[in-house]
Amino acid sequence: MKIRKAVIPAAGLGTRFLPATKSIPKEMIPIIDKPMIQYIVEECVGAGIEDIILITARGKDSIADHFDHSFEVEETLRRKKNEELLEMTERVSKMANIICVRQKNPMGLGHAVLTARQVVGDEPFAVLLGDDLIVSEVPCIKQCIDVFDERETSVIGVMKVPKKDVSKYGIVGGKKINEKLMKVSEMIEKPSPENAPSQLACPGRYVLTPEIFELIAETKPGRGGEIQLTDALARLAVQDGLYAYLFDGRRYDTGDKLGYIEATVAFALKRPDLAEGVRKILAEYMN
Ligand code: UTP
Repeated sequence: MKIRKAVIPAAGLGTRFLPATKSIPKEMIPIIDKPMIQYIVEECVGAGIEDIILITARGKDSIADHFDHSFEVEETLRRKKNEELLEMTERVSKMANIICVRQKNPMGLGHAVLTARQVVGDEPFAVLLGDDLIVSEVPCIKQCIDVFDERETSVIGVMKVPKKDVSKYGIVGGKKINEKLMKVSEMIEKPSPENAPSQLACPGRYVLTPEIFELIAETKPGRGGEIQLTDALARLAVQDGLYAYLFDGRRYDTGDKLGYIEATVAFALKRPDLAEGVRKILAEYMN
């Protein structure tokens, strides 16, 4: 069954980016000149997904506005015959069908996904977290969808992390099928290095069957008093099956300050209009 819908949870408080996130949604903070959330929506569009369900919250309407027309800006650019910028601005408002659902209280990632239940309905869907930018030739979520199409079972994208870092992620354990694929039998949220079943971490790319909704609904608040998606995924693995796919690509943790700076530098160094200037600036600071 074709994956037509993606859920992007963006209702968190973004406390790691305070005070910026007092009034600016974390997802609207740009990497250079593009809000983080746009990279995620582009990843969906690159995977052929056009219906994007944004889970937002009070004070986060600017995320939906970003994907709408900006009348004044577009009119001014048209009048000034700035075709290039006009085309770029209009492209953003046309790139996908944006559907907003409010999570009224930030009760955790699992709870955020559950708020999309009515809109997703009874079909498999993708979930992408806006904190993680993944740069790859084939969009990361497309790689997961390809595995889903082949196995007809839920899939999560994973990456290998150093043992000392396992406590920052949801970690999977299970039976290795081949170098890239594991049949998951357990999943633990932020385990200690001694308790981690592997070094395979899930940075936020999922293709899930709708059975996950009932499992989330039954999930009691876990770590931090939040309803964790990981707890429901651990049950999905046992009940319906779940694969972990070691995706190709480089991941940037833009929800973290250092990860954000790394992404900014890396993206700038790839831009022909900026690379040389940025290299000069970096060299100056390194001396
Ligand atoms: P995070 O825990 O990384 O995001 O959740 P956060 O809570 O916004 O950030 P910090 O930790 O306080 O700095 C991962 C993703 O899940 C969403 C967040 O918006 C983020 O994209 N989320 C989290 C929700 O949509 N609702 C929640 O209740 C919690």
